[in-house]
Amino acid sequence: MNALHTMDPVAIDPMKFRRALGNFATGVTIMTAQNEQGEKVGVTANSFNSVSLDPALILWSIDKNSSSFHVFEQATHFAVNILSGSQIDLSNKFSRRNIDKYEGTSYRQGAGLAPLLDHCSAVFECERHQIIEGGDHWIIIGKVINFHDEGRSPLVYHQGAYSGVTPHPLLQVKAATTEVEDVGEMHQGHLHSNVCYLMSRAFKFYQNDYIPKQLVTGFRTSEARLLLVLGSGTASSKADLPRDIAMPMHEVEQSAAILEKDGLLVESEGFFKLTEKGKKTAHYLFDIADSHQNEVFEKYPENEKDIFIKILKDIAGIM
Ligand SMILES: Cc1cc2nc3c(=O)[nH]c(=O)nc-3n(C[C@H](O)[C@H](O)[C@H](O)COP(=O)(O)O)c2cc1C
Repeated sequence: MNALHTMDPVAIDPMKFRRALGNFATGVTIMTAQNEQGEKVGVTANSFNSVSLDPALILWSIDKNSSSFHVFEQATHFAVNILSGSQIDLSNKFSRRNIDKYEGTSYRQGAGLAPLLDHCSAVFECERHQIIEGGDHWIIIGKVINFHDEGRSPLVYHQGAYSGVTPHPLLQVKAATTEVEDVGEMHQGHLHSNVCYLMSRAFKFYQNDYIPKQLVTGFRTSEARLLLVLGSGTASSKADLPRDIAMPMHEVEQSAAILEKDGLLVESEGFFKLTEKGKKTAHYLFDIADSHQNEVFEKYPENEKDIFIKILKDIAGIM
């Protein structure tokens, strides 16, 4: 499953290639534009990158099959809306086809009619500079004429799943040591009783040991998440899964296709169902999760662990 892929271009399997590319963590953007006829489009895209500082150029690529391309081609301008951590729903909405993506979406109008979305991390208003052919995509280069840096924590996309940015645990350890020297005892105490700080730091440490154990099974995070959610029976309809699993619909579908190919699940009438082999695999993943949990809680009495879980459920809004 984790085989080293050779350089023979004829042998490149597009799906495996896409999965390998997914190792490159990116942010998530929504590219927006409007033509003179008032047709507004928006496309979730993670192919965004910076090109040049002077002149200020950026690029992204759009699938030649996109129904939105003609508007990006006609419009004089477009906007790059860099999504913040709270905009998963918006990312999913703008990755869908044949829906009115702007219904219920708050935005204002920017240069050349391009919609600028609210609550982003940053927004770049661009003049269309150049469109270049790039295989099955068009590469769109924009010249930045204005930008808005809101500084919100960004949405991150890695191996087909959404994540957020938290400091690397090694940096946190350093920060904790410098806190004493630089900030003084009073503030250090304050931070160390802040529930938000403690939960994010605890989560990072917990994951650090747990994720490698999960990855050795050969499943990627997105496939393991799908198996665990289906195995726990909290959601099985295709419509509910993106919310429960924090993954966009097309990734849910792609992970489901991989699991289906391996005989782990079947899809019927908008529902996913684990096969016997799938149930066994989910069971195995839960065993890994449980054994890690037991290891972590070994030193606490059972009743303290129960209280901890009760409080977490309460904060998470789980009955
Ligand atoms: C996280 C994420 C990143 C995506 N990146 C791109 C991209 O860079 N280029 C692209 O053409 N499509 C990308 N897509 C898919 C498009 O969003 C989707 O095909 C498009 O919105 C379909 O609608 P349309 O036909 O109206 O363009 C991405 C989807 C997701 C969820």
